[in-house]
Amino acid sequence: GLQAEKRNFDSYSTTVNTLFKMFPTQSILIEPSPGHCRTCAVVGNSGNLLGSHYGPLIDFNDVIIRMNNGPTKGYEADVGKRTTHHIVYPESASDLDNTTHLVLVPFKIQDLEWLIKALTTGFFGTSYMPVKSKIKANKDLVMVVNPAFMRYVHDTWLEKKGRYPSTGFMTLVIALHICDEVHVFGYGADKDGNWSHYLEKLQDRKLKTGVHPGGHEYSIIQQLAEQQKTQVLYWMVIICQH
Ligand code: C5P
Repeated sequence: GLQAEKRNFDSYSTTVNTLFKMFPTQSILIEPSPGHCRTCAVVGNSGNLLGSHYGPLIDFNDVIIRMNNGPTKGYEADVGKRTTHHIVYPESASDLDNTTHLVLVPFKIQDLEWLIKALTTGFFGTSYMPVKSKIKANKDLVMVVNPAFMRYVHDTWLEKKGRYPSTGFMTLVIALHICDEVHVFGYGADKDGNWSHYLEKLQDRKLKTGVHPGGHEYSIIQQLAEQQKTQVLYWMVIICQH
């Protein structure tokens, strides 16, 4: 219901069944183990990455999660080269390399259909903005976030503030569930309060943080960092004992 979906639960179930026939049904996450600390870098798309030279710090992690239109090509020194997971919704997706997990955050039944079609025959529907008919990604590495997870993030982490969580905040909470140590890069609005990007010049000067409760999300990230250890260079939530 978040994005004008009018179909019922039966169509949802049918689509999910098709999804399970096409994509891995087993967990493809690194399992927790006492001898190994799963380190993750979560890389948002903030313009504050430009000139940061965080590339090597980001690439040092086991898991590197990027999102939406966040590229590495041309920005390696500041954002790194490796991507193990790329979180997208259909309207923000682009081609991935063969070793990267495509992680879909669905908002509507059509998003699940899009995933099935974009990796096979092509998707020819429309959405609130242009959506790619086909994308390149390794089918065997595809993951889909349970829609209930977005509800959980919105209700439990954001106290129902804003319309729904941003991709970046969803990604951070996903990382907290699948990693032992989470390093957070590339979050934070510019001096005018807009979520400007490292990848492009700001188009809309009145953007602010869109439909998302950006200030609230950012203060939660800061609280997480402060509860653990705040690094001057970047935020770090430490769970592993070294
Ligand atoms: O804007 P986009 O969705 O591509 O950026 C990915 C995420 O990075 C956002 O959802 C937001 O959480 C975070 N971001 C940020 N500050 C910015 C730009 C993006 O915190 N200036």
